[in-house]
Amino acid sequence: MSNYHIKHLEEYFQVYRKSVSNPEAFWEEIAEEHFVWRKKWNKVLEWDFTKPEIKWFEGAKLNITENCLDRHLPTRGDKTAILFEPNDPKEEAQHITYHELHERVCRMANVLLDHGVKKGDRVCIYLPMIPELAVSLLACARIGAIHSVVFAGFSANALSTRINDSDCKMVICSDGSYRGAKTIDLKGIVDKALEDCSGVENVLVVKRINSDIGMKDGRDHWLQPLLDKAYADRDAELMDAEDPLFILYTSGSTGKPKGMVHTTAGYMVYTAYTFKNAFQYTENDVYWCTADIGWITGHSYIVYGPLANGATTVMFEGVPSYPDYGRFWQIIEKHKINQFYTAPTAIRALAKEKLDFVEQHDLTSLKVLGSVGEPINEEAWHWYNNNIGKKKSPIIDTWWQTETGGMMITPIPYVTPTTPTYATLPFIGIQPALMDEAGKEIKGNQVDGRLCIKFPWPSIARTIWGNHDRYRDTYFSAYKNMYFTGDGALRDAVGYYRITGRVDDVIIVSGHNLGTAPIEDSINEHPAVAESAIVGFPHEVKGNALYGYVILKEVGKTRDRNNLRKEINQQITEQIGPIAKLDKIQFVSGLPKTRSGKIMRRILRKIASKDTSNLGDTSTLLNPEVVKEIMDNSF
Ligand code: WT7
Repeated sequence: MSNYHIKHLEEYFQVYRKSVSNPEAFWEEIAEEHFVWRKKWNKVLEWDFTKPEIKWFEGAKLNITENCLDRHLPTRGDKTAILFEPNDPKEEAQHITYHELHERVCRMANVLLDHGVKKGDRVCIYLPMIPELAVSLLACARIGAIHSVVFAGFSANALSTRINDSDCKMVICSDGSYRGAKTIDLKGIVDKALEDCSGVENVLVVKRINSDIGMKDGRDHWLQPLLDKAYADRDAELMDAEDPLFILYTSGSTGKPKGMVHTTAGYMVYTAYTFKNAFQYTENDVYWCTADIGWITGHSYIVYGPLANGATTVMFEGVPSYPDYGRFWQIIEKHKINQFYTAPTAIRALAKEKLDFVEQHDLTSLKVLGSVGEPINEEAWHWYNNNIGKKKSPIIDTWWQTETGGMMITPIPYVTPTTPTYATLPFIGIQPALMDEAGKEIKGNQVDGRLCIKFPWPSIARTIWGNHDRYRDTYFSAYKNMYFTGDGALRDAVGYYRITGRVDDVIIVSGHNLGTAPIEDSINEHPAVAESAIVGFPHEVKGNALYGYVILKEVGKTRDRNNLRKEINQQITEQIGPIAKLDKIQFVSGLPKTRSGKIMRRILRKIASKDTSNLGDTSTLLNPEVVKEIMDNSF
């Protein structure tokens, strides 16, 4: 029996038991048999959730790019590693083989070294979904630089905050990007961001849209001529198992974004192992994840997980609606996609369009359908199952987080029987626990509580860049000796898990994790605004949308309300990005507060969701009278 590839339910239970009864022996075997190491570890696992400190495969030496590239060259050199599908269907797709990818990564690594990037330095990558994005990640990993990818939909302000937080000395960007029929001036955004980033020495610019952009002398360099001159080989830097591989920012419920730090060996082992099993990937399959590499889904399941398995992974530059709503289905037909991984918000948006867009295309190549980012509602699940999978492709509802690095609770297709809206069973090695508010574990089935994980898994984030205390406080202080996820979940009669949503002030909008605090801060900076509170409310396509309650200053009270709404959203767009815009803005005279001054978001959430039959006890509020006013004027 191979523990690496699970094919039957019995095997899942057997391997699962092994993985939790003796995790060290289990992961040692997986690591030993399926990866290349320059030196083996001294110890498989060292951990203490109270410090917190987690180390996997300590003492081992490796380079993740040797596992993702070099080792495949003898057997898969001419196999397509990355299949690039451009925004415009009239532009030709690119099949980049493992040989070619290896060469491109080596050239890029040499360019980075020539521009002063050393092992341990941070490099910010702000690129659209073009091959250079994947090449940049791997080139950093090749030389031991720590990449920090910032999603190219974030604003200049969000970009500069992230660049400064981790002291990046280089930025890799493009002149601009294509997004459907539009182009976006990415370099302009970078220039604006860099006005506040004195630590950035060099900017490498990919030419993608051929726009006319400014290049700052000495700082900005066109990338292609440098690559053309660079040497096509580069030895991989020897890395320790626990050396940081990358930083990726995620929103918290308060404060600035958290730079989650992922390290090398454990992340590699876990993302590769989950990829193999959760997609049942076999050698000649063509796999497509529609996420952007700016998010963890893209890091783990477009780049590292698939490449570590020698897979063919599709990178799509465009959007689901261009040139029409059949684009996804057309790509599946064109490249004979076998595994397709997308987000519920995309499914809901496409389900609203005419079924013709689907029916024009041959989708018979599909074997596995994935969902990630937020709970998939029953209606979307059935639409996906009936119309895309034709009831033949199992749907894997994969629950995980930026912090977890890889999938945590997911069915294994053709192995785990699926139930709509359930992420089903923990993946191998994952030990979930449901906790009550008093801090006690809730045992047994048909229960719900706060979702925690009891034992470390190889790809758990090790810290928050520059703020280990915040890492401890956020994830390890709510429950003793547990990693707290921030999600609620229920466990049904057969032990299946269903994620019920966030229990903190994080709101998931179209699968994007948004913290309330940074958005409120941005609203409050508007000169007419005194105070604000935002909450989520159910939205047909986005899952949740944002509802803002805003108290105006005297100067604002005479202003046109609709203009103010526009200005507030403009402000949010500039400071965070368009994904954080509010759908509804209600001007109020006060916000319901506790006697200690804390905003009662629970009440605001209920009003925004039109669920006001039971608001709970409002008598303890400092200002119960505002509740009626807010309800009377709500949308
Ligand atoms: C939060 C993490 C995992 C990569 C993309 C999001 C929610 C994610 C599911 C799912 C229900 C889900 C959770 C989680 N979430 N997947 N299958 N079912 N909820 O990563 O931005 O770090 O967000 O997304 O609330 O905590 P992220």
